[in-house]
Amino acid sequence: MICLGIEGTAHTLGIGIVSEDGTVLANVREVFVPETGGIHPREAAEFHAKKISNLLARALKQSGQDLKNVGLIAFSQGPGLPPCLRGTAVLARSLALDLRLPLIGVNHCLAHVEIGRLVSGAKDPITLYVSGGNTLVAGHAEGRYRIFGETLDIPIGNMLDVFARKVGFGHPGGPKIEKLAAKSSTYLHLPYVVKGMDLSYSGLLTAAVNKFNGENLESLCFSLQEVAFSMLAEVTERALAHTEKKSILLTGGVAANHRLQEMLESIANDHGVSFHVVSRKLAGDNGAMIAWTGLRLFQHGITTPIEHSHVDSKWRLDDVEIPWRINEGESE
Ligand code: ATP
Ligand code: FE2
Repeated sequence: MICLGIEGTAHTLGIGIVSEDGTVLANVREVFVPETGGIHPREAAEFHAKKISNLLARALKQSGQDLKNVGLIAFSQGPGLPPCLRGTAVLARSLALDLRLPLIGVNHCLAHVEIGRLVSGAKDPITLYVSGGNTLVAGHAEGRYRIFGETLDIPIGNMLDVFARKVGFGHPGGPKIEKLAAKSSTYLHLPYVVKGMDLSYSGLLTAAVNKFNGENLESLCFSLQEVAFSMLAEVTERALAHTEKKSILLTGGVAANHRLQEMLESIANDHGVSFHVVSRKLAGDNGAMIAWTGLRLFQHGITTPIEHSHVDSKWRLDDVEIPWRINEGESE
């Protein structure tokens, strides 16, 4: 059985083809980059619609498979930008109906966690999932991922992207901030806001933008990363200490950041647990993670009838039942 997964929650349209044993046969994507400003949801959705047929052909070519060998269609059903989600769902439904295949709606956050577990081999990690749209620390308990901490306002990736835009870089900002941050070790004071297990980034964003004077960009990028990532590290460490899990998994687009990886690795070392980070090509939004999670759901008897395939732009990770985690050995 092979599954074709379609990702399209925001800027990225991705198609992945994955086999039942977790082999990624194809993983291709097209990323919408706005000319100015942030992502306009409708423009991103139009971009996806224009790119889909070509991308599908590329995915099939890369996988060496014919469409008739596909046994399952999975799509990202939420959370995300409503116009993008709706567009992806229409494509997935028409493919499933046309090919007479089962359809599976996948929670995008769950897919980031599951692809991370697949490629890292971490069985039962504390997961830090950080991206443009999400910032959360989660761990499994009794068939669900419980969210131990999350952002109270804007997600970390969005904070980095908006800061970058305000100081004159294009989208995405994270990689550019990382490059500049590496050139400085001058710390400028910025607000560090952790409330219990939750984080807040909007005050940090405002303070960093206000501190920008045209000359201090490198030290500002350095300080912004140090503060923002230390907040994540603190909450992750507390979740780890509380649950006594044996590994940390870092996933989502911001997982590509080396400074963040370094901080989490040092926590893992302090606690004598293993540290895993999702590979770069599977860190950002991609279709392979949707296909793989779709397969897992299907293997556990879950499908999404067309009449239940409406999208949910606010679908939370802790609302999803994950039956395979109940039966799996929990110890690492
Ligand atoms: P989601 O829908 O899961 O919230 P997303 O739409 O934001 O995801 P991703 O590709 O998972 O998409 O993440 C993109 C984010 O990752 C952007 O905010 C980008 O700035 C950030 N990012 C990418 N590379 C780096 C890096 N090296 N350092 C910091 N941030 C990074
Ligand atoms: Fe994502």
